[in-house]
Amino acid sequence: MATVLKEPSRTFNEYLLIPGYSSADARPENVSLRTPVVKFRKGEEPALSMNIPLTSAVMQAVSDDNLAVALAKEGGISFIFGSQSIESQAAMVRRAKRVKAGFVPSDSNLRPDATLHDVIELKAEKGHSTIAITEDGTSEGKLLGIVTSRDYRLSRMNLDTKVSEFMTPFDKLIYGKDGITLSEANDIIWDNKLNQLPIVDDNQRLTAFVFRKDYDSHKEHPNELLDADKRYVVGAGINTRDFKERVPALLDAGVDVLTIDSSEGYSEWQAITLKWIRDTYGDTVKVGAGNVVDADGFNFLADCGADFIKIGIGGGSICITREQKGIGRGQASAVLEVAQARDEYYKKTGVYIPICSDGGIVYDYHMTLALAMGADFIMLGRYFARFEESPSRKLMLNGSYVKEYWGEGSSRARNWQRYDLGGDAKLKFEEGVDSYVPYAGLLHDNVQLSLMKVKSTMCNCGVLNIPDFHKNAKLTLVSAVSIVEGGAHDVILKDVSVRGTSDR
Ligand code: IMP
Repeated sequence: MATVLKEPSRTFNEYLLIPGYSSADARPENVSLRTPVVKFRKGEEPALSMNIPLTSAVMQAVSDDNLAVALAKEGGISFIFGSQSIESQAAMVRRAKRVKAGFVPSDSNLRPDATLHDVIELKAEKGHSTIAITEDGTSEGKLLGIVTSRDYRLSRMNLDTKVSEFMTPFDKLIYGKDGITLSEANDIIWDNKLNQLPIVDDNQRLTAFVFRKDYDSHKEHPNELLDADKRYVVGAGINTRDFKERVPALLDAGVDVLTIDSSEGYSEWQAITLKWIRDTYGDTVKVGAGNVVDADGFNFLADCGADFIKIGIGGGSICITREQKGIGRGQASAVLEVAQARDEYYKKTGVYIPICSDGGIVYDYHMTLALAMGADFIMLGRYFARFEESPSRKLMLNGSYVKEYWGEGSSRARNWQRYDLGGDAKLKFEEGVDSYVPYAGLLHDNVQLSLMKVKSTMCNCGVLNIPDFHKNAKLTLVSAVSIVEGGAHDVILKDVSVRGTSDR
């Protein structure tokens, strides 16, 4: 006889938080959103934590090197998508790891025999006015000079003039030696009233620029998540097929943390993958597993050695798994059950395994609910796909800007490894759709606003950190009628955009 769970499968929309006592200290600026990413023993510090509880989904339309850097600046981690060749995924990780906080690889480069016309074109294309002149025209070539808008007068000069005739040559440049710290570089910039400082190695090869304008932007990102070498922390997704080749390549590129990306993680394939990683690297390589939706799935992956465990089947905005296959669980029910299993496992073994609520976040308050229900952090796809920094195209649709967003199980992504059940390597039917999402501007602005709401609610609940939120949150189920009461009602709205839907 089949088992039928007594409780229905519930979503975030069906819950609200009950405020707790808030002391005078309960102010958003006193709230810490720091959270563990990987497992740790009682009394020990986790080997990896984040400063904000957000990760970006392992998806083509979401997590590339560009978004990874933008999110690490805010304090979270991107998991760069694995549905691409090992080489191109490793190259993305490498590129993101090369961006040292404040040290920017040069993106506008020319050879000395280029012309003023080339300078104008490159400036229009990249939007930057500092151009490195290197022997071979690459960002890492031997630095021969730089060109900025102070080096040429368009009204007086012929467009055919060679760059070598008007660039500021290397022997007149003030530069920093590779290996200097950001604060040393900034001192040189301030002492010499420079706008930018090229950094070169012992062979005069360009490694990066430090820009005066970034000095302030650096201060704007007090939460940035850096490794021991002051590089941004970057994650990557792997699958249960080519891990023996993919994992070493990603590690070589400098990846900090991995996650097995699968639509359903309670499987022998995950056990095999985790075992190989532990046998090959011991505990030095950090790897999450999933997705699961109940205690059995959590306990299985915990015993297999996962560093964190992801929760969620069928709740993603682009997901049609539940319609196609009839499996899954409401995200709230799944998080609540897995959080309880995590706590019991901790009591039994003294090992705390962080859990990640993956998918289904529609409103900002859903993030707060996921944390209240026990998630240590959250993974989001649609949310990040809307931002300027995501890899997908920005288009105009019916007079508004949108970005493309497609599921990994759609025929566009063809990520069959994510849905792998062994057998031949083919995606047999789709589990995701191809869609548009409204363009929402810069990641920084949106994340700041969303997390301000999270912190504000935590203050209303009288908690100043996530572990206390887990312990003290009081939740209630809402009736259909009280959902209506929760929105603006019985008034004639002047502006429909304020109806609580602005974060959709
Ligand atoms: P969202 O934040 O609601 O858009 O959900 C993102 C999550 O959906 C991802 O992190 C994946 O776990 C999941 N996902 C990604 N692509 C697909 C798909 O094609 N079908 C089902 N789930 C998907």
